[in-house]
This record gives sequence, structure tokens and C-alpha cells, in this order.
Amino acid sequence: MIKILFVCLGNICRSPTAEGVFRQKLSQNGIRDGYLENIFVDSAGTGAYHVGKEPDRRSQDIALKYGVDLNDLKARRITLQDFADYDYILAMDQDNIQDMKAICPPDQQHKIKLFMEYAQDCPGITEVPDPYTGGIEGFDRVYDFIDRGCNGFLKYLFANNKL
Ligand code: 4NP
Repeated sequence: MIKILFVCLGNICRSPTAEGVFRQKLSQNGIRDGYLENIFVDSAGTGAYHVGKEPDRRSQDIALKYGVDLNDLKARRITLQDFADYDYILAMDQDNIQDMKAICPPDQQHKIKLFMEYAQDCPGITEVPDPYTGGIEGFDRVYDFIDRGCNGFLKYLFANNKL
């Protein structure tokens, strides 16, 4: 099984959006994710501010426009066990990378990657910016980046794994 964890700070805006969007793309390609499938997708935050909460209303509303329902997701904080359990730990920004590398065991650090590195059509964009304190247009931009990053990561997975 391939296990993928999307990570941001609060786990209420960017990473749950990535989880939902990626799951939708898998499904559109005839691939189911879950405990009993070949692929398992989840998201987590490096911070604990919003643990147990559903995704931010603004993220949910934009995702719904594209047919992605985030309503059932609940924020959680990344754990040490996640570093052992997941194969790909995809960070939304450099702060997420730093925060994870500070606690991740050395032999698992190679699993931590910048999510946008997989986006093939966003030259120069390396991070999905934190939209939390900004306006709604920031959320639209985040959705667009996440959509492109998920396309690129799915291509990468298809090219490098049997799914
Ligand atoms: P996220 O956005 O990391 O994309 O979930 C944030 C949500 C909440 C906060 C920061 C970022 N916060 O500081 O409360």
C-alpha cells in the first residue's frame, strides 16, 4: 500500500483541500483509497490550534464548487507515528518542512517533500501560501495551486508505482 499524507499548519485549509482534491482525482481515474485499498490518503497539521474541527468554511465552499466535499474531514496534528507510517509526506510550505524536520527521525526525513515540486505547470511556485488571514481570492489561488500539484503528483505516482 502507498500512504500519502498532506501537511499544512492548521489542517483546516490547505491540506484537507489537497486530501479531498487528490481523492477526487484518484476516483476519476478509477482508483479508490482506504484501509483496504492500494492507496491511502490523509492530511494533518503541524499545529494543534484547530484539532477536531472541520475544514474552514471558505475552503469547503470553494472545494464544493468543484464537486469536492470536505465536510467529513476533521483536523488532527501530525504524530511521530505518521513519519513511520506514510510513504509520502507532502508539505504545503517551507515552514511546514522545517517544523516536521525538527521532530522527524533522521531515517524518515527523505519522505518529507514540498508538494508543489510535483506541479509541472507552475514554474517558480514552490509553496501553497497560507490563506487563513487573507481574503477569499487567496483561497481561490490556493485551490488552483492544489489542483495543479495534485495533477502532477498523480502523474508521478502513475509513473513510479503500480496502482
Ligand atoms: P492551513 O491554514 O495551515 O492551510 O490549515 C491555517 C489555518 C489556521 C491557522 C494558520 C493557518 N492559524 O494560525 O490558526
